[in-house]
Amino acid sequence: MKKTAIVTGAANGIGRAVATACAANGFSVVIADIDAENGQHLQDRLLNEGFDAMFVKCDVSDPEAITGLVKTAADRYGRIDVVINNAGISEFTPPDELTVAGWDRILNTNLRGAFLLTREAAPVMKKNGGGAVVNIASTRALMSEKNSEAYAASKGGLLALTHALALSYADDHIRVNCISPGWIHTGDYSKLREIDHTQHPSGRVGKPEDIARACLFLTHPDNGFINGENLVIDGGMTRKMIYQY
Ligand code: NAI
Repeated sequence: MKKTAIVTGAANGIGRAVATACAANGFSVVIADIDAENGQHLQDRLLNEGFDAMFVKCDVSDPEAITGLVKTAADRYGRIDVVINNAGISEFTPPDELTVAGWDRILNTNLRGAFLLTREAAPVMKKNGGGAVVNIASTRALMSEKNSEAYAASKGGLLALTHALALSYADDHIRVNCISPGWIHTGDYSKLREIDHTQHPSGRVGKPEDIARACLFLTHPDNGFINGENLVIDGGMTRKMIYQY
């Protein structure tokens, strides 16, 4: 039986690349997103290419929708092996203008959604001997620009949630790791400027496929000794001192 991966926020950007990579590597892929048009489009493309995929409309900030997502995936495929908590929103608002509703929207999507989906999927993963979860955080969990409080807090929370879940689900053989991407360009890569690339120690801006390959690596059973970890993938930017002399 094929393994099953649920990827949230898979209709666009990084999630689409992760879902595509999972399909190409033999997984049945559940594309979970609020964007029905692009989610359906990705499902149809993967099916046309001979892969197994299913779009499920799901708002990860809605607990009931998450329960429905896991039930739909388990009913269709009978197992869940991998969960990629990728869905996320970023809004930048000065702290004195950030409303409670605005804070809650970002935290409930980026952080609470990852917790709830992992908790719902865990009993199904356990039935087939375990699995692996990857939470997509951000280098903004580690460093900041102005006016990013809610987003930064949500991503910092994901780092802590990752090691907490790794411990709670250790006995169920469910590993939980985290990726903190830097600048991953999801638009037209050819439109980037020279300075966009050269400022990175790696000499280029990141691509969604950089994150997709890391998801495959972290979730592969051969890499079972990596657990509760945060993998920064940012072309070296957070290792670069930026004092101006
Ligand atoms: P994107 O905006 O291109 O894609 C995000 C996807 O999530 C979209 O398909 C959107 O419809 C979906 N989504 C939004 N809210 C949702 C909800 N409530 N329920 C279900 N789906 C929802 O974003 P991108 O750039 O692909 O980012 C993906 C993840 O990577 C996010 O968590 C983001 O914070 C993180 N990230 C991205 C970086 C970048 O440079 N692109 C850098 C660091 C982190």
